Amino acid sequence: MGTYAVTGRASGMGRAVADQLRAAGHTVIGVDLDDADVQADLSVPRARREAAAAVLSAAGERLDGAVLAAGLGPVRGRERAIAQVNYFGVVDLLREWRPALAAAGNAKVVVFSSNSTTTTPGVPRRFVRALLAEDADRALRGVRLFGKAAAPIVYGGSKLALSRWVRRNAVLPEWSGAGIRLNALAPGAVLTPLLEDQLASPAAKAVASFPVPIGGYGDPSRLADWAVFMLSDAADFLCGSVIFVDGGSDAYFRADAW
Ligand code: NAI
Repeated sequence: MGTYAVTGRASGMGRAVADQLRAAGHTVIGVDLDDADVQADLSVPRARREAAAAVLSAAGERLDGAVLAAGLGPVRGRERAIAQVNYFGVVDLLREWRPALAAAGNAKVVVFSSNSTTTTPGVPRRFVRALLAEDADRALRGVRLFGKAAAPIVYGGSKLALSRWVRRNAVLPEWSGAGIRLNALAPGAVLTPLLEDQLASPAAKAVASFPVPIGGYGDPSRLADWAVFMLSDAADFLCGSVIFVDGGSDAYFRADAW
């Protein structure tokens, strides 16, 4: 049985992953704002450092895997927090946890990306470049012109930068060479509190009209099945992949993108 860190443990897909891992007999160290082993606001750099250290201490400096599911949806007015949680709330923790993941010898990491990476029109390249350069202020200055429409751009852009970070790092000796498999899961519209909030917001009409070819919304526990599979030995040969599980939305928009 292994020891896993799971962020976003209190709700939605992170909660479903943590519950499945615990039910299978693993030790889970959950991170979230509330209702978690380590309570932290991942939008704050110092809180991220403290949370990363608290997890390492609870895990005895050895992690068999990590699932980074904490995230904020495209909520108007929360652009700074979206960038901080969705991008830095993943990469800062993973950098701190890398030695503990390497210590396990065959660790697996699943980062929650999103199909918004390929279905959000108009994300400026400079936003993504600035996040990858770790400059949140520059990134946010670059999307001011979107005004009240900036939140979906920041959401899609933060997940795009995150996916690129995963792919760039997954193949480096520090990660793949240390036996760590770094991959991303890109869900589509999954019925969790994040989506429910969007369906109750002023953007509800646009959110509800987003095409999901198979119809309906994804089930959080089915997405958790994918994350748990990506933590298993089945993922030994999976490295730097972004797996879309989205009812066909990405294929609908980009059938010929390959
Ligand atoms: P959710 O809202 O049910 O759960 C997200 C969790 O992240 C919550 O427990 C929340 O407290 C935590 N969180 C938010 N801000 C935080 C902060 N500052 N510090 C610490 N924890 C914080 O959302 P859901 O849907 O389960 O999302 C999981 C991941 O999947 C997120 O990264 C989200 O962006 C991504 N995703 C969700 C989709 C959906 O349709 N539900 C679609 C594509 C991606």
